[in-house]
Amino acid sequence: MNPPTLPPPSPPPRVSSDLAPPALRRIADLPGPRGVPLLGNLWQIDRDRLHQQAEAWAHRYGEVYQMRLGARRFLVLSNPEAIAALLRDRPDGFKRTDRLSATARELGFHGLFSANGDHWRRQRPMVLAGLDPTHIKSFFPTLVTVTRRFARRWRRAVEQGESIDLQADLMRYTVDVTAGLAFGVDINTIESDDEVIQQHLDKVLPALHRRVMAPVRYWDWFKLPADRQLDRHLAALHEAVHGFINAAQARLDADPGLREQPRNLIEAMLAARGRDGQSVTDEDVSGNVLTMLLAGEDTTANTLAWMIWQLHQHPDAALQAAAEARAVCGDEGLVTQPEQLSRLDYVEACAHETMRLRPVAPVIIQQAVRDTVVAGIEVPAEALVMCLMRPGATSDTHFPEAERFRPERWLSPGAANVAASSAKRVAMPFGAGPRICPGRYLALAEMKMAMSMLLSSFRIESVQTPDGTDVRERLALTMSPVGLRMRLRTAGTFTV
Ligand code: HEM
Repeated sequence: MNPPTLPPPSPPPRVSSDLAPPALRRIADLPGPRGVPLLGNLWQIDRDRLHQQAEAWAHRYGEVYQMRLGARRFLVLSNPEAIAALLRDRPDGFKRTDRLSATARELGFHGLFSANGDHWRRQRPMVLAGLDPTHIKSFFPTLVTVTRRFARRWRRAVEQGESIDLQADLMRYTVDVTAGLAFGVDINTIESDDEVIQQHLDKVLPALHRRVMAPVRYWDWFKLPADRQLDRHLAALHEAVHGFINAAQARLDADPGLREQPRNLIEAMLAARGRDGQSVTDEDVSGNVLTMLLAGEDTTANTLAWMIWQLHQHPDAALQAAAEARAVCGDEGLVTQPEQLSRLDYVEACAHETMRLRPVAPVIIQQAVRDTVVAGIEVPAEALVMCLMRPGATSDTHFPEAERFRPERWLSPGAANVAASSAKRVAMPFGAGPRICPGRYLALAEMKMAMSMLLSSFRIESVQTPDGTDVRERLALTMSPVGLRMRLRTAGTFTV
């Protein structure tokens, strides 16, 4: 695994867009919702629905406005061009927030996602190499094995007449895939009835979200029952992480050749730690193991859940996707060769359309490293900028009939492909610039594998919300549909 080189040095300090008015404005002078002393706008916000409230205010106050959560003031930005420019101006112009980095460190998963500056620069090539398309191709047989198991799990649910807890099941799939690819271990939570690692992972992202958004760091002084529970989940996770690390270390000790040719991310990090104790520390290795689990699990599982929901709501698109999946998968009922993935264009278009309408990262918060200018607004060093990713992606300015689920818009042939690629620049579900999601190739491969298996081997009978009303969105760092349950029937020949 040869680490690719890092992106070129950061662009110039000024981040601007065509929107920028001639005279610079200050954040405090921008329009925004009226707050109250001390709390600012906190009293108007339900933390789980922060993104929807912020989007509603963008509708009212425009593409740049300000809000205050406790003592912290945010510049809120929803213009895609300005957001893309800001995200490209990293790591020198903008960084992940100090609050996020500190919280990730205290919870023990300070890895690539929360690192900044040189610490981030050192880690990024290793993670990129572990998740690049070549590496994913060599991992393909394992992806097939895990998908086959997943099909068996759902087939059992059909035989037993059970409905499926969609997110919980999808997370078993994504955790098994991530652990296989990044750590070289087969944890097989899909076929396990014991307590599985997801039950702990599930609690950590919401807790991180709570702490990142909390107006005061009360846990420095006292712990609530929720904090003590979090400690227990973290202890269980750290134990699992050390298991992965010890197993990888044992492989390196048994086969020293692996130090030169590591087969996965964890081996690459341990080999680097062995070569140069200064560049990769123990904390980096365990922080990144946990980061991979957290970053790879919820995001992909929630996007798949949203995709299943969208397809169930749009039977015409579901039929077309199923026809394509059946043509590609044949009697096998799932993809078994990497080449088949490139024939799932419509299924992939459904994924892009789902991520446009239901991005699992609808809010990306960044902090200025130095004084700069964003969309004509003066942004002093340390200021916080909240990027809203969905308003641009659901605006008729960029997408005709923007509110509609139309996967075809991602398939325009020939010259119109330009439209699809510029659409990707507006929607940005994986972020943008030097810190764009390194897991996007894996995520797309996983989503196409799981969806083509589902669509070719089963018929979706129902996907229901807990109370039968429209689906609710919940933000807990990633944005998920609340409580979906799915019922399946098997479809025709089934050999998996
Ligand atoms: C549909 C699935 C996924 C979505 C929508 C998604 C989205 C994102 C987004 C929006 C970011 C922030 C990018 C930015 O700041 O510009 C990110 C970063 C990241 N993602 Fe993903 N992600 C997905 C799957 C994955 C997977 C499968 C992995 C790994 C197994 C992964 C690992 C990471 C890591 C390590 C970062 C931090 C990168 C850095 O800061 O340099 N993601 N992802």
